[in-house]
Amino acid sequence: MQNDIKEVLYSEEQIGAKVKELGAQLSVDFEGRNPLVICVLKGAFIFMSDLVKAITVPLEIDFMAVSSYGASTKSSGVVKIIKDLDVSVEGRDVLIVEDIIDSGLTLSYLIDVLEHRGTKSVTVVTLFDKPARRTVDLQPHYKGFTLPDEFVVGYGLDYAEKYRNLPYIGILKPQVYEK
Ligand code: XMP
Ligand code: MG
Repeated sequence: MQNDIKEVLYSEEQIGAKVKELGAQLSVDFEGRNPLVICVLKGAFIFMSDLVKAITVPLEIDFMAVSSYGASTKSSGVVKIIKDLDVSVEGRDVLIVEDIIDSGLTLSYLIDVLEHRGTKSVTVVTLFDKPARRTVDLQPHYKGFTLPDEFVVGYGLDYAEKYRNLPYIGILKPQVYEK
C-alpha cells in the first residue's frame, strides 16, 4: 500500500494538530448552540470521528452518503443521495463535515438540499480543499489544508475504495490509476 504513494503531503501528526485546532475554533464559535454534525460518507468518516472529539459543545451526529467518483478520479457532476439522514434538520444549526472539496458540486448540492429542508444555519468544515479545481462558487467556512491539483488518498480518502486506512494524506502514483 505504502509503495503506491508518491509523496506524503501531511503526516498523521500534522493532521492531528490541525483537527484539534479546528475543533477548538468550532467549540468557541458554536458556544451556546447544539449543532447537528453531518458526516459526508465515506471519505469524511475518520475526520469526523477525530473532529467531534475535539469539540466541547453538546452536539448530535448523523451521516449522509452521496454518489462519489466510483473508481474514477473525476467528478461526474451527478450527485445522488445514497443514504439520507435519520433525523430532521428543520430549525437546526447544521455543521457539514467534508473530507475534501474539489469541483464543489457535491457540497453545493448538499447545502441546497439541507437549506430546502428548513435548516437554521449551514456551516461547512472541510479538512482538505483543492480551490484550483472549483467549478461552482463555494467557500468552506473552515478548512484544514489547501492541496495542489493532485489526486490524494489516506485519512479516509480512497482510490477505488482502497487506502482509506492510511493515517496520513499522500499523492497516489499516477501509474496506480492509469493502469
Ligand atoms: P466535488 O468535485 O463534488 O468532489 O467537490 C468532492 C468529493 O470528491 C471526492 N474527491 C476525492 N477523493 N481523493 C479522493 O480520494 C481526491 O483527491 C479527491 N478529490 C475529490 C471526495 O469524495 C469528495 O467528497
Ligand atoms: Mg471518494
